[in-house]
Amino acid sequence: MKNTLKILILTLSFSWGCTQNTQRNERVEYTTDPFPGEAGKTLDSHTRWDMWDKPAEGFLGEFVRVPRDEVVGFALYTHQNGKLKITAQLYPLKPEESREVRLEMKKNDQWEQVQKVDVVYPGWSAHFEIEDWDDSNDVPYRVLHGQEASFEGLIRKNPKDKKEIVVASLSCNSNQNRENRNAIVSKLKEQNPDLLFFAGDQSYDHKEHTAGWLLWGKQFKEVIRDRPVVTIPDDHDVGQGNVWGESGKKADSPAGDTGGYFYPAEYVNMVQRCQTSHLPDPADPTTVDQGITVYYTSLNVGGVDFAIVEDRKFKSGPAGKIPQMGPRPDHITEEGYDPAKVDLPSLTLLGDRQLNFLNEWGQDWTDTEMKAVLSQTAFCGAVHFHGSMDNRLLADLDCNGWPQTGRDNALKAMRRAFATHLCGDQHLSVVVKHGIDEFRDGPFAFTNPAIVNTYYGRWWWPKDEKAGAGAPINTELPWTGDYLDGLYNKITMYAYANPDFSTVKAMRDTLKRSEVNLGDGYGLIRFNKESREVTFEAWPRFADLSQGDAGQYPGWPIKFNMEENDGRKPVGYLPTLQFNKTNPVVQVISEETGEVLYTVRVQGESFQPPVYAQGKYTVNVGENKPDGWSKKQVTFGEDQIMEVSL
Ligand SMILES: [Fe+2]
Repeated sequence: MKNTLKILILTLSFSWGCTQNTQRNERVEYTTDPFPGEAGKTLDSHTRWDMWDKPAEGFLGEFVRVPRDEVVGFALYTHQNGKLKITAQLYPLKPEESREVRLEMKKNDQWEQVQKVDVVYPGWSAHFEIEDWDDSNDVPYRVLHGQEASFEGLIRKNPKDKKEIVVASLSCNSNQNRENRNAIVSKLKEQNPDLLFFAGDQSYDHKEHTAGWLLWGKQFKEVIRDRPVVTIPDDHDVGQGNVWGESGKKADSPAGDTGGYFYPAEYVNMVQRCQTSHLPDPADPTTVDQGITVYYTSLNVGGVDFAIVEDRKFKSGPAGKIPQMGPRPDHITEEGYDPAKVDLPSLTLLGDRQLNFLNEWGQDWTDTEMKAVLSQTAFCGAVHFHGSMDNRLLADLDCNGWPQTGRDNALKAMRRAFATHLCGDQHLSVVVKHGIDEFRDGPFAFTNPAIVNTYYGRWWWPKDEKAGAGAPINTELPWTGDYLDGLYNKITMYAYANPDFSTVKAMRDTLKRSEVNLGDGYGLIRFNKESREVTFEAWPRFADLSQGDAGQYPGWPIKFNMEENDGRKPVGYLPTLQFNKTNPVVQVISEETGEVLYTVRVQGESFQPPVYAQGKYTVNVGENKPDGWSKKQVTFGEDQIMEVSL
């Protein structure tokens, strides 16, 4: 069986340059009703196959009717472990036009066709998968349709030789301004990140994802064409104000607060197909209710391993499950409430299977020096005003601060791998250090600014306008330090980028003026593999890069060592481990609780493992996973040495 597999892979590996035909019907057939049911009738109305018989309506209706040499809108890719996945996004094709989309690679200055596939409808996406990809060289690619349309870019080599891996983090692409995003794109081209992460709300055109997605691609194509991109859809991308996915159940309203998805599964799956098909294969492709697909996975870029997490899909909806303590089931305003009333054992955040994935991912350090977790939203509610500065809420349950036990479990999984968290969604950029049992004992997290912050405003504004407790943060910003969020989660605020306005309307009125501060822009995160230092940068939309760090939001950049993502205070150390190989992976497990304390690739030839309580520990060591050496019943031994032979 193994031999057969090998032969198949070898055959595929030599198929470069040959045409891999896909079965294709001669007669073009489109589904008349791609989204069943009443709620599906009006979805994607600007991009239906029969749109050509109807007049164009509004901006999006006009926008999607492009000259035929522009029908290949953009393409997204990632590659990992020899598999290259590319999604090409097409504008709506006319019924008489070919559905065939071709992929070519440039080799020895010659374009060679590598694969051709049919466009998928609904959604007008085309999905290429190339096996046995050699990631050691930059390779130009282009996606073609018909005789005229082409989109060209560059498959970058794996940047594993770079000392520093740079990630740009973006989200919340307000549809109040449909113009270009050149103010951001030009800076990104200069900063040249190795990976782009779009955390969600790429489109706010709830019922018109395909048109909104095409617009997003047009806005960012000059920077997405030549580097790997992670896009994950958030609530607005699937047409809802909020999503508590509850493993794919059917929601009873677009508010979705009883849990689930309101629009047909076919629409949700189309959104996920367009936005996530180019990611590495799902860790576990088992669908959830209604056949809704699942994409959580991981992507290693140059030695930084990113877990890509779906923090909405499995989460419980609040309505009917917890007591309402505010104007809406998801908004809490009742001061002094008992947080245990909303943190019930029956409630889910990441879901067991995804939490298991995260814990397993944390133990695998193959080709990995540092780790980070990418997800839609923040594991706290680091916000006071929502929508306008006269709407102070204690808590908004549309964040991963709730349910609190799920939040703690997710943060513990990150801490076990010294992982940094990156997210979007909030429209208020902050850096917090999470507290799980104690303040500052958890990982650092960076919520990026909104791309254009005119959809929904948020502000960090403690009621007493005072600094938080604990050791002072070295910053010019006044309201930093230890706080409880409205769910009584422990957070330490390091930096926040409030807009200089008190209403979204005022922000919309000034959105094109470069001299005003809307708190929008993007994040840039630097992972230094040598020093293990992480740097968070927050760049205003209209920032001037020539000003250097002074061009960033006040309070940024923020630097910390990856080890600080585990902020627990050691009560002692196990014996010093002396390795016969450099930089192995070390894991410490408590024998009392069975809990993995941490799994990390250490630097050098020795390491003294810290522990946080008296007791007996199992120590595992290995080259990529902690599977090469094991010792049980290890206890404190400050002066002892243990030889580890791998
Ligand atoms: Fe958003």
